[in-house]
Formats: sequence, C-alpha cells, structure tokens
Amino acid sequence: MTNEPSPEERASQLRALADEAATCVRCGLSEGRTNVVFGYGDPDADLMIVGEGPGQHEDEQGLPFVGRSGQLLDQLLGEIDLRREDNVYIGNVVKCRPPGNRDPRQDEIDTCKSYLREQLRLIDPKVVVTLGNFSSKLLLRTDDGITRLRGRAYEWWGRFLVPTFHPAAALRGSARVLEDMRSDFGLVADVVAGRLEIEEPATPSEAPPEPPPEPLPETIAVAKPTFDQLGLFR
Ligand code: URA
Repeated sequence: MTNEPSPEERASQLRALADEAATCVRCGLSEGRTNVVFGYGDPDADLMIVGEGPGQHEDEQGLPFVGRSGQLLDQLLGEIDLRREDNVYIGNVVKCRPPGNRDPRQDEIDTCKSYLREQLRLIDPKVVVTLGNFSSKLLLRTDDGITRLRGRAYEWWGRFLVPTFHPAAALRGSARVLEDMRSDFGLVADVVAGRLEIEEPATPSEAPPEPPPEPLPETIAVAKPTFDQLGLFR
C-alpha cells in the first residue's frame, strides 16, 4: 500500500488547479490578460520546463511557448529526441502576461509561485529545466545570474535541475548562446536517459557558484520531502 497519488489522481488534481488558476485575480496581471497560461503537456512528464511568463501569442492562445521562443525550444527538444507532446510539461513562473512583455515583478512572482510549486509537486518530474534568470533564480534561490548558473545539472529536491538561457536570449544574442543551450540540453538528455548520476562536490578549480542565501539541499536521496516542508519558494 502506498499513499502516493496515482498518475490519474495527479492529472486530475492538476486539472483542478488549472481550473482554479483560470479565474485567478490574486494579482494585477489578471487585469490585462486574455487567457491564463497555466501550462501544457504530460502530467506524468519526466521533464518539466519552466519559463518566465506568457508573451502576446501565449496570452492569445492560452498556451506556453507558442511564439518564436517556443519554436526554438521545440527545435532544441527535437535535437535530443523529445517533443513537447510527449513526456514533457511546460509552464512558467507567472501565468499571466505582464503588460508590454515587461519583466514580472517580485510581488507578482510571489503571488503566483504557489501554482508552480503545486505543478512541480504533482508532475514530479525527473528533471526541471529553467529557462532564463527568473525561473532559475526562483527555483535555485539564488541571486546569481543565468550566465553563472548554467552549464551544470544541480541536485534539486530529489531530482535534477538544469538552468539554461531563455530561448529569447538565443534569438537576439550570439551563436554562442545557442551553442551553450545545446550543451545544456545535452545534460538534460543525459538525465532523462539515466546517464547522469548525482554529482560529486566540484574540485576547487571548477567550484560551483557561491551558495545561495539559503543553502540548497546537499541531497536528496531521502524520502521525498514535500515542497512546503522544506520551505521551497519561501
Ligand atoms: N517566454 C516565456 O518565458 N514563456 C512563454 O510561455 C513564452 C515566452
């Protein structure tokens, strides 16, 4: 006997959460939105991708990453033999479009993050990919920027987290950004295929970034903690 909810129960809870979010007015972003962009994909996915927030196309269609950034994301997924329809779930830090595509504000992120926390808990992916600064800093609880954070897989609450650039940065940036993203997606492929083990502490010459204000868990292998117990997102 186990108390773990079945995949069907988790899918049903995720649908209920999406229904709740559809009428959310917890923050001012609700005033300008066309649709809440809750998330898309397999509720039992091994890979969960977390972006920043919906843009214009996402707001119009109610789906994440359907514009140019989404095309690039699909391409990068395809290069590691993954498709968003299959074993992947895509969500965002904030579920409603910030006006004029401005950055989400901290109060908006704080108000919205319980949805993301629940998505992570219910989907329970093997690996989380954070795209860009907002999701990477939120989930790794650090002020370090994405350039510093990317390039490795972090042990994260019993799974891996791979931070990488936001596809929009590759679209407006140099070819180097895209190559770095390809390399990070290579790490993702390794985790999904079970080829990556929990990392040993880095040697001094390849020391990890400064620890975040509140330490990340060293690991992991313990019985799965609940996100609330561990104060995630506090
Ligand atoms: N950028 C994001 O961060 N999320 C989307 O859904 C689309 C573009």
